[in-house]
Amino acid sequence: MANLNQDGQREQWGSKIGFILAAAGSAVGLGNLWKFPYMAGKNGGGAFVLVYFIMLFLVGFTLMLAEITLGRKTQLNAIGAYRKISKKWSWVGALGVLAGFIILSYYSVVGGWVINYIVKSFSGALKIADADVLGGMFGNLISGTTEPIIYHAIFMLITMIIVIGGIGGGIEKSSKILMPGLFIMIVIIALRAMTLPGAVEGIKYLLVPNFSAINIGVILDALGQVFFSLSLGMGCMITYGSYLSKDTNIPESATVIPLIDTGVALLAGLIVLPAVFAFGYEPSAGPGLLFITLPAVFAQMPLGTLFSILFFFLVLFAALSSSISLLEVCVSYVVDEWKIKRKVAVSGIGFAMFLIGILASLSFGRLSNITIIGGRNIFDSLDFVASNILLPLGGLLLCIVVGWIWGTDKAIKEASNDGKIEFKLAPFWAILVKWVGPVAISIVFIRSLLG
Ligand code: PHE
Ligand code: NA
Repeated sequence: MANLNQDGQREQWGSKIGFILAAAGSAVGLGNLWKFPYMAGKNGGGAFVLVYFIMLFLVGFTLMLAEITLGRKTQLNAIGAYRKISKKWSWVGALGVLAGFIILSYYSVVGGWVINYIVKSFSGALKIADADVLGGMFGNLISGTTEPIIYHAIFMLITMIIVIGGIGGGIEKSSKILMPGLFIMIVIIALRAMTLPGAVEGIKYLLVPNFSAINIGVILDALGQVFFSLSLGMGCMITYGSYLSKDTNIPESATVIPLIDTGVALLAGLIVLPAVFAFGYEPSAGPGLLFITLPAVFAQMPLGTLFSILFFFLVLFAALSSSISLLEVCVSYVVDEWKIKRKVAVSGIGFAMFLIGILASLSFGRLSNITIIGGRNIFDSLDFVASNILLPLGGLLLCIVVGWIWGTDKAIKEASNDGKIEFKLAPFWAILVKWVGPVAISIVFIRSLLG
């Protein structure tokens, strides 16, 4: 049967800290290290960060709590969880599985770039302080045909192998060691980046909002980024919550996880953007920002090569602890509902994602002239559909199902372990989930449809 251990019970996290680390591991990933700095760079820096924070408070914490609670209550995968609340709503879970499928297909391409940069760090090829040269090198990699696809394949394979290992064995163990390591490294590197000559401009760019830069495009990007970064809106936290035991403190977890995630995103921004300004590069340069500015920072550090190797390794581990959660959402559904073996599910789904990812990868080279949504190439279109449409839509529907169909009273009862633990903000959360979340997401959607 599905996701059961030898004693015939549903698999569970080994410890409370194990769950927090695994959930934080899902949240902290390329979304923070790679995507957040370049989204901020593209969307006016501080303006984006300000809107990001507003969205984080309006929907981030609220939906994190809603997803974990729904998962633990039902002890089921994303689709099963919705179905258990009401048969009419199980398609919301399916929408989430679809989003996860799309995201991992291109996420794995970026994961592949990271592996390539580990190799480049070892070979000393990155020991260059000139951001333009580094930009050229990055462009060469991603516009290639076979090379980026091979690295994409390697990333996908590693993800598949860990997910075959199951929850406690693969996912939880690795997070316990790697998450703290990542945090320490990133603080050290941020200190170096922020003390580069000219770095102050970058810090200002990231933290001082220019209100005139705020428009509906920026708001939609920030909303999408909150969902993407917190792994919300696709049932990932439902799935992880379903492996929780009944005595976990959900309100606490739902606060700590977004805080960790946001801290890492800000630190990444405080590495990349100061370096952009210190090396006279363009903040709006796009998806390459991390790969271009970081090596330039390492070149200015004692033991730069060592830092470079270690750091890209940690980026890889952060990416893997997220990619495994993306794959797990799809696998958990197929294993629970179709009653097929975990190995078979992982192989089939992983291979299909790999194929879509090939198109995403080629969209920086051979297929770069194909544009799908609003002038975006295949890669950006997949990201746009998943992050800016499917995830917020999934979040909106989650609010409706938890707030109105299941009902906040029952949800609060579950979240507070039947009143055994304190959940002071419960009345406030009920308003957020029933009204503020759905209204805020709808307004952003409607406004961006109107253009
Ligand atoms: N939150 C992950 C990141 O920031 C990406 C992700 C999205 C993971 C959705 C799971 C679900 O990199
Ligand atoms: Na994240």
